Amino acid sequence: MNTQELIDTAKTLIAEDKGLLAMDESNPTCNKRFARLGIPQTEEARRAYRELIVTTPGLGECISGVILYDETIRQQKKDGTLFIKVITDAGIIPGIKVDTGAKDMAGHPGEKITEGLDGLRDRLKEYFQMGARVAKWRAVLASGDGIPSRGCIEANAHALARYAALCQEAGLVPVVEPEVLMEGEHTLERCNEVTEKVLRTVFTQLYTQRVMLEGMILKPNMVLPGLTCPKQEAVDEVADATVRCLLRVVPAAVPGIAFLSGGQSGELASARLNAMNVRFKSRLPWALAFSFARAIQQPALEIWQGEEAHVLPAQQALYHRAKCNRSARRGEYTAAMERT
Ligand code: 13P
Repeated sequence: MNTQELIDTAKTLIAEDKGLLAMDESNPTCNKRFARLGIPQTEEARRAYRELIVTTPGLGECISGVILYDETIRQQKKDGTLFIKVITDAGIIPGIKVDTGAKDMAGHPGEKITEGLDGLRDRLKEYFQMGARVAKWRAVLASGDGIPSRGCIEANAHALARYAALCQEAGLVPVVEPEVLMEGEHTLERCNEVTEKVLRTVFTQLYTQRVMLEGMILKPNMVLPGLTCPKQEAVDEVADATVRCLLRVVPAAVPGIAFLSGGQSGELASARLNAMNVRFKSRLPWALAFSFARAIQQPALEIWQGEEAHVLPAQQALYHRAKCNRSARRGEYTAAMERT
């Protein structure tokens, strides 16, 4: 393991107010999003969409790293250039999603355990040779009556820590993603309680599995009220609750926290990230950044609709969201940016 390289890669991912772009939807998830818009659910459509993303002019000004799916990392532009070369040439660090999905957890109705540890060492070796320097693993935790259970939290945290240790051994920076889902009626206080418990367990496991905190990125949810909770707190209250929770549980050795968007609108995700940086940036031990999928991609996908003629305006929409999020890291995002 080259410790210094891992530390340098992690630092580069959060440098210059940039963030990550998650474009690692599995084929079923990508197809589901295409189906909603009437886009054909084919390998060629997925390739064309990812070509649109990675060739977006100026993307590297705002995006430090992209996370790809196994199908995408092997794909090429229409002219035959490998996506991974396009990404690297744009000054962006290529990353890869390495879990194999969240499956129903035995004995735990309504809960999921993320799989993918078997054979992971060999897969990581291959991805490293292909040029990837970052790898992501997502655990999902639902909030509800009696859940998440201790069994589910501990099993997912253990898997995250084992994956992270394998990544560092292979020279890839782990992006450790324990996602407490937004779906449900739960309150912000309940999300806070669950997120704190989950992150505490994750960091205990990372320590037990000897993961080097300086060479990783944490990708958590923001502390939010459930989607169908009648009380929806204001942007500043979400920012305060999220930072307070993270300060209690994330060691200062972690260089950066890159939030997932989790189904928030692009505007709200930017506004909340902005508020955290406005109110706390100068007093925090780690950078607060982004690693959004939907909150960067959704407007672009809706404009594209699978049409070659819509590629340019779709790329402009993608660039716009990436730029809004870079501004949010600086605490300079305003609603007026959405009208330009
Ligand atoms: P969202 O930002 O759409 O939640 O996606 C983040 C992600 O990478 C999920 O694994």
